[in-house]
Amino acid sequence: MVNRIIPFVDVSLSNEEIEEVHKVLESKRLIEGVYSKEFERKFQEYTGVKHAITCANGTAALHLALEAVGLQPGDEVITTPFTFIATSNSILFVGAIPKFVDVDPKTWNLDPEQVEMNITEKTKAIMPVHIFGLPADMKAFRDMADDKDLILIEDAAQAHGARIDGVHAGNFGDIATFSLYATKNLISGEGGVVTTNNEELAEKVESLKNHGRTLEGGYKHVRVGFNYRMTDLQGAIASAQMDKLPELLERRSANAQYYRKIIDEIEGIDYQHIPNGFTHADYIFAIDTREAKVKPNEAVQQFKDNGVMARPIYSTLSYQQENFKNIHEWRWSKCVPYPDYTKVHCPISEAIGPNHFEIPVVPSLSIEEREKVAETIQKVFG
Ligand SMILES: Cc1ncc(COP(=O)(O)O)c(C=O)c1O
Repeated sequence: MVNRIIPFVDVSLSNEEIEEVHKVLESKRLIEGVYSKEFERKFQEYTGVKHAITCANGTAALHLALEAVGLQPGDEVITTPFTFIATSNSILFVGAIPKFVDVDPKTWNLDPEQVEMNITEKTKAIMPVHIFGLPADMKAFRDMADDKDLILIEDAAQAHGARIDGVHAGNFGDIATFSLYATKNLISGEGGVVTTNNEELAEKVESLKNHGRTLEGGYKHVRVGFNYRMTDLQGAIASAQMDKLPELLERRSANAQYYRKIIDEIEGIDYQHIPNGFTHADYIFAIDTREAKVKPNEAVQQFKDNGVMARPIYSTLSYQQENFKNIHEWRWSKCVPYPDYTKVHCPISEAIGPNHFEIPVVPSLSIEEREKVAETIQKVFG
């Protein structure tokens, strides 16, 4: 029996997380400590990245990463407009200039060819996002960054479990960031992780997140830093979650695979295409309606009428947001020559933006619920 409205967000928490959080409360050691360190060790092991550093959230992780690699006011950072606003906001935090480049029409990720064409002498970094959990073409970006002496930063906020030829996201960039926000594949409520294979960058991030202290702690501050530490309550949730991650991902993947087969049989709708050797982490499953008669707003309503939650996501691209239209109000615009973002156009992103919507792919779906979602896809588009 299917008797709940089928959700696209369903937090996978159970006794394990609750027990671990209890232990933290009983210990009265709430600040970052044993559990956060245990989580970092597990995350390093799982991703194969040498250093994993916890922090307050995924946005803080991005800020730390951009600060650590030494970006300066006026530096250009190439990124995608088809993402959550935190990606480009973090570029603004450090006074750098987001340069929006279009995505690939099939993967919806930053297009390496377009990026190459947009590199100028002001470009200092490339920041792809693994959108919805599908890795960007990181081998192409790694070669490009090496060739042109650019910094490569991965926004892997949505990409726990994403791989290219078996190598986990976070291993390709000079530095990478993950979010542990409550809806993600791996959660701690609020939380973030910075990963890097570079020891110097790891030490810098560790210091930056803790008021610029040296690793010994105490009251010596060697650089301007922030308080972006997480608490051990978050660390305990994340650590317990790590043990379940492979199973949670398998469930997501089975749901997504099921939908892909159904959609393959229906004309006019599509989904993100997965290049050979790439593993989609299936954080979000979105239907592409670029060629469909039924568009997202109408489809979402019909899904709701059938007891299935659905929603459009990045229908407004980053450069179309008010904060970019009003960039002259941002403090750095007093000395940084931001472009007129109302003149930016990325036609493929602009086509995908209003033509995709999310359907439930969460691990908790029962077989019957998944079937009901699939039937709804057929009903609305078939
Ligand atoms: C692509 C992307 N980058 C960054 C973030 C920021 O993460 P947080 O919400 O943990 O600050 C998110 C969060 O949803 C995201 O999806």
